[in-house]
Amino acid sequence: MYDELKKYTNDIQSFHMPGHKNGKLQLMHDLYALDVTEVPGTDDLHHPSGMIKEVQDRIGRIYQSYQSYLLINGSTSGILATLATVARRKGSVLVSRNCHKAVYNGILINRLEAHYVYPNYDEKYGFYGEVEAQAIEVMLKKHPDIHTVVLTSPTYEGIVSDIQKISQIVHAHGAILLVDEAHGAHLTFSHLLPQSAIELGADYVIQSTHKTLPCLTQTALLHMSPSVKVDQDVLEENLAIFQSSSPSYILMASIEKGIDFMETHRKEFEQWIIALRDLLEKHPIQGGQWLNDDGTFYQQRLSHDITRLTFLIDDGCISGYDISEKLRKEHHMQVELAGERHIVAIISMADSIKDIQRLIDGIRECLAKERKKEGVVKEAKKYLLPTNQPEQSMSMHMAKQQMTWDTILYTEALGRTAKDMIIPYPPGIPLILPGEKITQEIVNNLESLDKHGQEIYGIIKGEIRVLR
Ligand SMILES: Cc1ncc(COP(=O)(O)O)c(C=O)c1O
Repeated sequence: MYDELKKYTNDIQSFHMPGHKNGKLQLMHDLYALDVTEVPGTDDLHHPSGMIKEVQDRIGRIYQSYQSYLLINGSTSGILATLATVARRKGSVLVSRNCHKAVYNGILINRLEAHYVYPNYDEKYGFYGEVEAQAIEVMLKKHPDIHTVVLTSPTYEGIVSDIQKISQIVHAHGAILLVDEAHGAHLTFSHLLPQSAIELGADYVIQSTHKTLPCLTQTALLHMSPSVKVDQDVLEENLAIFQSSSPSYILMASIEKGIDFMETHRKEFEQWIIALRDLLEKHPIQGGQWLNDDGTFYQQRLSHDITRLTFLIDDGCISGYDISEKLRKEHHMQVELAGERHIVAIISMADSIKDIQRLIDGIRECLAKERKKEGVVKEAKKYLLPTNQPEQSMSMHMAKQQMTWDTILYTEALGRTAKDMIIPYPPGIPLILPGEKITQEIVNNLESLDKHGQEIYGIIKGEIRVLR
């Protein structure tokens, strides 16, 4: 494994997480020597009173939270701990259907009753956008027992919802707002980017520092606002349940170093963003465009994080999957995510503007070659995600508890009830949840993803489990 990793990192330029980009931005040395445990003088993550407390307090001041927590089991652990904390409230939760699987797992293990709100969806490019505040208001009025609203913002593609407006609506209803900001740990460090949800009224905000900051994989943060301080003890108990009892000091110190780096390089970060904007504007690519906030996406202006490079493909001569493969094989670059009509590259301060220029040139070359070969500009294929609640036969946890099921080809599963989540990874958004009926739309999508070799959790050799 070690040799394979060395080979991969020597050969491939990373446009994916983690944000230190294969050690291009190394902020710590002597990792083995720093790998200690809880002994006198090193504090304790689960009862901090010394250096860990100091770091958490400093991070809280930087992010403007009431209290911030270091997470060493990813945003996943923060999401699970927060959902276990809100689970003691009576009623149901409202979840944006583009949430990561960690949210559905939290619903499952806490047996929460969930309602879903669907984000905007652009049929042309095939991914979800922002969740409208009005859509949330409608659901809150329809289900007055909703006590918690869970949203993902920014999305994998960098689209940000109007958290300020949403938090006002949620609070007016007496509920609390949890924002999965896994892709937004860097937002706080520049006024040129959308504001972080913790500054805009969200009650709990969870961020993966390993995605967009120069921090090690599995590192993340949980921020809470003073509005939920009554739950602080329960939250801390749950963090100790969902995180390792032997937290890695290397991971914790890497969060500190990554955040200190950003805090002391705010000016450079701003200059980097300005240079990035300039680069994207001056180097358009024929056959596609960068997602931005100018109204190209579902004909609306939107709030988008410019540091999330989402390339939209207008010309059907090549898919996002093909561009991703060509970038890897011909240009030795790996992007984070590919779809039928888009690719997503994760960049950070570890990438120089020159590195990003190489990516742009690579994409341009892939498109130009295919356009030349095809001779004509073709209409690109559509890839449709569910935009309506699939018929639900039973709740998620009931479906998971059923002891009788069939294992069948997913192509023959139309109308059957899913036993498992079926999740293309990345982005980790379930296409279908346990207890939901499989539609033709889902079968078509799975076929399209399968054809392109996309990793799909829940399918083994073309087969899925359905209830009898
Ligand atoms: C939106 C979102 N939330 C949560 C997670 C889980 O984050 P982590 O890998 O830090 O546990 C991911 C991972 O990709 C994600 O994309």
